[in-house]
Amino acid sequence: MLTRREVLAGGAAAMLVVPHAVKAAPEAVILTAGVIPHTLPGNVGPSDLWLYNQTVALVLRIRRHEKFTAVFRNQLTEHSAIHWHGVRVPHAMDGVPYITQPPVQPGDSFTYEFTPPDPGTFFFHPHCNTVEALGRGLAGVLIVEDPREQGLFDIEHVLVLKDWRSRHDGSFEDFLTDAGAARSGTFGNLRTVNGQALPVLQVPPGARVRLRIVNIDPTRIPMLSLRGAERPLVIATDGNACEPFALNGWRLGPAMRADVAFIAPEKAGAEIVLEDVFSTRPRSLVKLVTAGQGMRSTKAVLRLPAAELPLPDLKAATKLDVQLLAGSADPKLESWAKEMGVSLDEICLTQKVFWSINRQVWPGMAHDKLPPPLFELKSGRSYVAELFNGTPHQHPMHMHGHTFRVLSSSERDLPPHWADTVLVRPKERIRIAFVAGEPGDWMFHCHIIEHQETGMMGYLRVA
Ligand code: C2O
Ligand code: CU
Repeated sequence: MLTRREVLAGGAAAMLVVPHAVKAAPEAVILTAGVIPHTLPGNVGPSDLWLYNQTVALVLRIRRHEKFTAVFRNQLTEHSAIHWHGVRVPHAMDGVPYITQPPVQPGDSFTYEFTPPDPGTFFFHPHCNTVEALGRGLAGVLIVEDPREQGLFDIEHVLVLKDWRSRHDGSFEDFLTDAGAARSGTFGNLRTVNGQALPVLQVPPGARVRLRIVNIDPTRIPMLSLRGAERPLVIATDGNACEPFALNGWRLGPAMRADVAFIAPEKAGAEIVLEDVFSTRPRSLVKLVTAGQGMRSTKAVLRLPAAELPLPDLKAATKLDVQLLAGSADPKLESWAKEMGVSLDEICLTQKVFWSINRQVWPGMAHDKLPPPLFELKSGRSYVAELFNGTPHQHPMHMHGHTFRVLSSSERDLPPHWADTVLVRPKERIRIAFVAGEPGDWMFHCHIIEHQETGMMGYLRVA
C-alpha cells in the first residue's frame, strides 16, 4: 500500500504546487459552543448547559511543540471567545474579548493557532459573562503531552471537579448573588466529577496511577485527600512538574490543577477515594477501584521530567506590590468614567463592586472599557511580586500568559512550585517570581469568578 507521502509524491507531476516536505498536517479541531439540554445527576428535568462539542468536561489531547489549530464556532446566543488557561500562548491567541481579540459573535467563528511550549494539564473557557458560562458547564480540559513522559505511568484518569447550581427540575439558581460575591462566592449544591455524582473508575492492581485533577468550579476550594492510597504525591501544579510533595490537605482553588501519582494497592477490589476534607465531614468525590490484570511496578519513579520554563533572575528582579482588598466604586472610577464619557450604569453590568487590586477596581463585567494597567513591565525582565490578601476570604489569583514560580508564603510552608494560579489566604503574603513575556496586556484576576466580575481584576502591560 502506498503511504500518504508516496501518494502525494506520485501525484506531484499533475500538481501545480509540490510541497517541499510533505508532512501530514494535524487536522484542525472544531470546537462548537452551544446550548445543550442535559439532565444532571439526580435531577428530573434537563438543564440548558453550555458545552463545547456537546460534551460535559470535554478533554482534548495535543502534543508539545506541535502546532495546534482549533476552529471555534459560536452557537451560543451571546458573544464568546476561548481563553487557554495556563498555556503560554501568543498574546493574540489569549482569548480575552476586546483585549486580545474582538468578541466572536453568535454564528461567527474564530481560529486559534499556537504551538504549546510546555507539557501539562490545562483547561479552556470563555472570558466574558464567565460566571454564567462556567455555571452552565462551558469549559474543557487541554492536555499537552510530552514524549518525555512516555511509559512513566500505567494508567491515567482526568478528573474534572465542578458543582452545579441546579434545582431538581433542571433550572438554575442565580449564578451570581450579592451575598456570595461579597464573601467567598456562591456555591453549587450538586457536586460532580466529569459530570457525574461520585463516579467509580477502575485502575489495575499495582499500577502506577496518574490523576489529572482540574477544578473548573467558579467558587469551591476543595481540600484534597486520597483515602486508601499509600503516599499519594502531587507531581505537577497547574500542569507543571514539581518536586513531588504529599497531596493530603492540598487546597485546589478554582482553575487550579494538580497531577497526582500513586501506586495502586496490589489486591483487586481495593478502593481509593478522592475526598474533599475541607469540612469536618469529608465529602467523597470519586472512587477508584482496583480491577483487571495486575501490574508490578517494582521500580516506580513517581515524578515527571523537570519543567522547562523561563527562570526569573531573583537578584535582578524588580519588586511589585499587589494588594488584594475590598473595593467600592471609588472616586477614581467615577472620574475615569466621566473622562470616557460613559455612565457607570453603562459599564458596570452588575453595578456591584466589592473587590479591588491595589485599590483599583475592574469596572464591571465587560472588557470593553479599559482602566489603566496595574503595572507596566518590560518583556524579558524578571519580577518578584508580593501578593497580600487584606480580606477575610481566599483568592486564587491567576496571571495570563505567564507561568510564575511560587517562592514562599508568610504563613505556611509552601513547597516552591510553578503555577499560573495561586491561592492567597487571608492575611497571607505570597511571593511569586516570573519573567515578563510577550508584549501585550495580560489579565491578572481572582478566579473565584464572582470576585473577578465584581472588581478583582486588572492587567499587566508588558512592553
Ligand atoms: Cu481561567 Cu482569566 O482565566
Ligand atoms: Cu477572590
